[in-house]
Amino acid sequence: ELVSFARNPGEGDKPSPGSLEHYGDGLLWLQGQHIHAVGHFSELAPSLPEGSEVLDYRGKLIMPGFIDTHVHYVQLDVMASYGRQLLDWLNDYTFPEECRFANHAHAEALSNAFLDEMLRAGTTTAQVFGSSHPGSMDAFFSACNKRQLRMLAGKVLMDRNAPEGLLDAASGIADTERLIEDWHNSQRLGYSVTPRFAPTSTKTQMDAAGALLRNDPTLWLQTHLAENSCELDWVAELFPGNQDYLSVYEKAGLVGPRSTFAHGIHLDNGMRTRLAERGANIAFCPSSNLFLGSGLFDRYAAQETGMAFSYASDIGAGTDLSGFDTLKSAYQVGQLSGQPLTAWQGFYGLTHGNAKTLALDSHIGQLAPSFEADFVVIDSNATPLLTRRIQRCSTLGERLFALMILADDRAIYETWAAGKCQHQRDQS
Ligand code: GUN
Ligand code: FE
Repeated sequence: ELVSFARNPGEGDKPSPGSLEHYGDGLLWLQGQHIHAVGHFSELAPSLPEGSEVLDYRGKLIMPGFIDTHVHYVQLDVMASYGRQLLDWLNDYTFPEECRFANHAHAEALSNAFLDEMLRAGTTTAQVFGSSHPGSMDAFFSACNKRQLRMLAGKVLMDRNAPEGLLDAASGIADTERLIEDWHNSQRLGYSVTPRFAPTSTKTQMDAAGALLRNDPTLWLQTHLAENSCELDWVAELFPGNQDYLSVYEKAGLVGPRSTFAHGIHLDNGMRTRLAERGANIAFCPSSNLFLGSGLFDRYAAQETGMAFSYASDIGAGTDLSGFDTLKSAYQVGQLSGQPLTAWQGFYGLTHGNAKTLALDSHIGQLAPSFEADFVVIDSNATPLLTRRIQRCSTLGERLFALMILADDRAIYETWAAGKCQHQRDQS
């Protein structure tokens, strides 16, 4: 069974006509790293070349690989650190942990551990923060290329208000230029310029980051925006005379169509409209926002103002790398806000929608000819409970919703990237 979205299914209880592609008896035909054809098994199978290898996944559900638009690989071991909101959490747990990435062996070990966990969760592409040490990104990018993964990532830029071992005033921009040279467009990789957030970068550093983007419009930009109310007060203090938080980033030239701003909880419609006009997107990080008590993202206000948003785990403040968990948390946030999230919206968001916000939608996010062969094989009978619940479902919509609420990495039977099986639940 194949499920993919050709476009946004809309907000209704049923996907808008032509948006959902669903084959109960589908054949996904791969050629090298790409998808060659998609269709009904009975129609396509006769044209398979003689000697083709055919794998039988009857009873399983195949979807495009999940995409995570905002996650910190260097915070894998910070997950589940108790009882603090953003600024204390950064100082008490996160900054000390990120200091460890000065050690290259540690960065290599954590890069591989993170990619293993991502693939176990069915995520094939992510936009990733490293630490401020350039070596943390050499380790990460090189681990991605060994697996031929499509990833966006960058070294954090931070030149103030953090421990000495993380500050990069002297070398941050030059290191970023060197990393871009070495890794941007290497295999399937892209470089995302990564000022951590306004409180830890001087205006000088943010202006220099903006200059890099002006120089090469194929680069991405990732940072944090309006996550926590104490953060907002601090930004107002550090950057007096600015209209609001977003204008700090606008003045540095950081707001464009390839820019992802994590969180965007405490925004007004003026800022939302300005983000929409520049084609930037907000990464909605629901499990992180619940975990740190940051607030409830207003999905309807985003839709009303035309502001694009994506779905993200934000590990280590997020509580799970699983896309299912991100959708469950997004649903819970929606319920507390009177903004219920349909399974159509959720799974479209996790795949095609996230690809679109990252400007990767001509490469990934759909099961369609010429797309890259990144996909997940889902086992809806992964646990006795899932089996019971799925048996009671009579429609695809009900089944997808049950997965979104009940499934976790046990339901990821296999994860494929670049046309290769890279995770098998029962064997690794
Ligand atoms: N704001 C600045 N840095 C961070 C971070 O590492 N995690 C989160 N959630 N917010 C941030
Ligand atoms: Fe984050």
